[in-house]
Amino acid sequence: MKTYRAAVIGVSRMGAFIDNEVVGYPNTFPPYSHAAGFTASSRTDLVACSDLRPDVMEVFGQTYNVPKERQYTNYREMIDKEHLDIVSVATQPEHRAEIVIYAANHGVKAIYAEKALAASMDEADAMLEAVERNHVYLNMGTNRRWGLAYDKMKEIIDGGQIGALKNVITYSTGTLFNTASHHFDLLLRLNNDQPVQWVQANLPDGDAMIDGDILHEDPHAEGIIKFANDVTGYALLTPRKTEYEAIGDKGSIAAYNDGFEWHLRQDLPLIPGKPWTGFMTVDVPEIPHDSATLRLVEDLAHSLDTGEAPRGGIRVAHANTELIFAFIASHMQGGARVELPLKGSKIKLKRDRAPRQPKFTV
Ligand SMILES: NC(=O)c1ccc[n+]([C@@H]2O[C@H](COP(=O)([O-])OP(=O)(O)OC[C@H]3O[C@@H](n4cnc5c(N)ncnc54)[C@H](O)[C@@H]3O)[C@@H](O)[C@H]2O)c1
Repeated sequence: MKTYRAAVIGVSRMGAFIDNEVVGYPNTFPPYSHAAGFTASSRTDLVACSDLRPDVMEVFGQTYNVPKERQYTNYREMIDKEHLDIVSVATQPEHRAEIVIYAANHGVKAIYAEKALAASMDEADAMLEAVERNHVYLNMGTNRRWGLAYDKMKEIIDGGQIGALKNVITYSTGTLFNTASHHFDLLLRLNNDQPVQWVQANLPDGDAMIDGDILHEDPHAEGIIKFANDVTGYALLTPRKTEYEAIGDKGSIAAYNDGFEWHLRQDLPLIPGKPWTGFMTVDVPEIPHDSATLRLVEDLAHSLDTGEAPRGGIRVAHANTELIFAFIASHMQGGARVELPLKGSKIKLKRDRAPRQPKFTV
């Protein structure tokens, strides 16, 4: 089987060193960073990297065996010289669109773009156009879409074990770009990536962050997502940590602590032999785990091998971005119902923040 030439742009935490932050954490299955994923996969060779910080690239080079002459401070030069098949864009969202569009326009065939996809709807639209025009395969790094545990959750829903799906819930929506992008992706996937009709949202700390068309920080959010198939999503903002639930007319399946615990309930007699029923706890099937990053990388390799669409794709990433900006639009209109497709969003995320210092050792 062919081995694909891969490179990482933005070699900080998610690009390269986040594995050192999660050693022993029960819900993260290594490899986690993009570079660790490319290194672990037999389908990819990690041949080059790009970052604005040469000192961080130097440690990256030592860790992942990328020589100095293949460490670029200018990603364009790297893309022009290195004949890359797969490029990761693990920068912050403010720096993502320009890089993804350049890669798509200059021969890169597959892109692993971190979430959130973009800093504005204009950027997301331009990325969609460039990726589709160039027939590039793109997966956004909303890991749970490739996690075996959430495949099992979806299998339980699709297999009819909770009846007809009615609601999908995230209990910890968090901030829109950094964390809600993950949660929106899972809600979309559990509901088969159905189109969204409208949203209504509130950003409790949003007002102070919006200045004209500029959003200066990543706001917390809560809201309602109405899907075209009549399923309703609830993006709640509670102290519960990374917890999800799908509710059907005959039961529910919940992932607690990001899948550390599971809870399956089915509509059964409350008392044996009596007619009254309710949602009763039943045994959960065994929930498997493995590295979502590795599965995402190998999904791109599979697309390159076969020409089949990847599990994510630019349309799903674009729909996710549209939810983020629709939540902002709804909040700015006092919580009004905002219909999708979203029209006229001019808000742009522009934070004044330095890149983080990655943790180079465990
Ligand atoms: N999927 C996950 O579980 C997960 C976890 C953590 C972070 N993330 C996402 O990964 C992304 C990166 O997060 P982080 O914490 O690693 O970020 P960071 O701010 O620590 O690092 C970003 C890196 O990008 C580099 N960069 C910026 N512009 C560049 C350019 N033009 N060319 C080359 N390099 C450039 C910076 O120098 C920096 O090293 C974010 O979008 C974040 O939301 C995802």
